[in-house]
Amino acid sequence: MRLAVNIDHIATIREARKAREPQPLAAALIAERAGAHGITVHLRTDRRHIQDRDLEALRQGIATKLNVEMAVTDEMANIALKVRPDQVTLVPERPRELTTEGGLDVVQSADAVKRFTGRLRDAGIAVSIFLDAELRQVEAAQVAGAGAIEINTGRYAEAPAPDVKIELDRIAVAARAGAAAGLEVLAGHGLDYVNVKPIVGVPEIVELNIGHSIVARAALAGMETAVRDMVELLRR
Ligand code: PXP
Repeated sequence: MRLAVNIDHIATIREARKAREPQPLAAALIAERAGAHGITVHLRTDRRHIQDRDLEALRQGIATKLNVEMAVTDEMANIALKVRPDQVTLVPERPRELTTEGGLDVVQSADAVKRFTGRLRDAGIAVSIFLDAELRQVEAAQVAGAGAIEINTGRYAEAPAPDVKIELDRIAVAARAGAAAGLEVLAGHGLDYVNVKPIVGVPEIVELNIGHSIVARAALAGMETAVRDMVELLRR
């Protein structure tokens, strides 16, 4: 099972002050050093965290796979063709959402997805589609020409205890269908240090995208060192 670390929230901290630090590339290099197999960022239309210049820096700076999540728009396709990440993940985007709220409705937006996917694949950029664990969505992703799907684990992560097994089964069924259709199967959203374990048990899933829980733990794990460093500086 590969891990791609989503570092959007490093940029969220920077953008809260419109400051220079912390830099997403610096976090990406530490994540790679710790064993991450890939780095994921979401270039949102409103640029609330990751900026265009971050994509350039990451493209040049990291050694593992660069995966960029983006909405299905001409602006984003043009950026992808310029920056050339290893993989683009198509996601739905709603202007005031706190985070991506669900999978892309590939059935509904089949023509636009197919056009977008074709442009990127012609340029040698792999395309993954973030979708809910529904067989019709998996099938539509294959028809649209995607090479991979990322199954949305958000509903599983938020499910009340009696429903967790139902949501996990849905993910497992979709994963099996995806693999049978020749798609690479990824998963992500809302995964943390506890709920990730059953997902690791789904054999068709080969890669997870995890962001919030890792950045949250990083902030607390690093707090003691950060305070000690400043106290030490003030003492001198
Ligand atoms: N996958 C997709 C498509 C996402 O949009 C996000 C959040 O940016 C993630 C995975 C990671 O989710 P989380 O931050 O909850 O781990």
